[in-house]
Amino acid sequence: MTHLAEHEAPPRVDKSDERIRRMFGEISPRYDLLNHVLSGGIDILWRRRTVRAAGAVDGPVLDVCTGTGDLALAFWKKTRGSVPVVGADFTHEMLLRAVQKSGRRRSRWPGREAAAFVLADAQRLPFADKSFAVVSVAFGLRNVADTDRGLAEMARVCRPGGRVLVLEFSMPKNRIIGGLYRFYFRYILPRIGQLLARNRQAAYEYLPQSVAEFPQGEALAARMRAAGFEPVTWRSLTFGIATLYCGIKPAESRVEDRESRAGAAATPSAPAPSMPPNSDSSGPRLSTLDSRPSGP
Ligand SMILES: C[S@@+](CC[C@H](N)C(=O)[O-])C[C@H]1O[C@@H](n2cnc3c(N)ncnc32)[C@H](O)[C@@H]1O
Repeated sequence: MTHLAEHEAPPRVDKSDERIRRMFGEISPRYDLLNHVLSGGIDILWRRRTVRAAGAVDGPVLDVCTGTGDLALAFWKKTRGSVPVVGADFTHEMLLRAVQKSGRRRSRWPGREAAAFVLADAQRLPFADKSFAVVSVAFGLRNVADTDRGLAEMARVCRPGGRVLVLEFSMPKNRIIGGLYRFYFRYILPRIGQLLARNRQAAYEYLPQSVAEFPQGEALAARMRAAGFEPVTWRSLTFGIATLYCGIKPAESRVEDRESRAGAAATPSAPAPSMPPNSDSSGPRLSTLDSRPSGP
């Protein structure tokens, strides 16, 4: 007997929270170096484009899956300490690097309020609803075990009229560039990555595998719409190696209309129960790290 379904199903990359945390913990000392070497420094320009796409920032900024904090710090640089900037990630070792970098940059602008870094799971953000004017994520959503839950949390903490920016790897559509890139991504990048950032989690094999499985273009835009953003636009960066998605959380009245329509369709006779945010006591505890590095 053949098990067609088994053969047809694409191999799933292990994105369990434990594996992801261990993997980023192991590569954290070399993460920034590898990012810049393997992308030829373009990653810095992509993050700048992301910050520019936020437009005028008139309220708090949250960068989820902030890792070593580059995007959060780019927002901090842009806003000059005029609004709170928070970076959140669930890998302690990555956040420690963010905190160290933040301390170094802040020493150049001593009067500015520092960016805050918080140990938190993107699937259970420890923030109240509608707290942030901008919510961003760079190369992080792909690693979150439950993409839709991550998007739903970003939508929840974003204030009406606020903006969500997702920067993520994608595969170039052009056949020649796509072919060359695939070769580099599959055969060269994992070797350099493993050489420079030795780890037991095959992090640089995981990278192309996870990109191949992750929704791109309209597919991800549709998931963002389903999470409550409207409109959602996206643009390809550098031949489509990366894509920047921008979603707007509709103004309050439109959100309420939408929720009441959905609620009426799902439970015609009973109002949907309202859950206070972060009432799940099994979720991670919020811990704010200051700019003094502490032991792991
Ligand atoms: C590829 S790094 C990206 C870091 C940074 N945003 C950047 O632009 O370089 C992915 C980050 O996502 C974090 N991450 C993955 N899943 C997460 C989750 N469920 N909650 C919080 N952080 C998560 C990892 O710990 C890691 O630091």
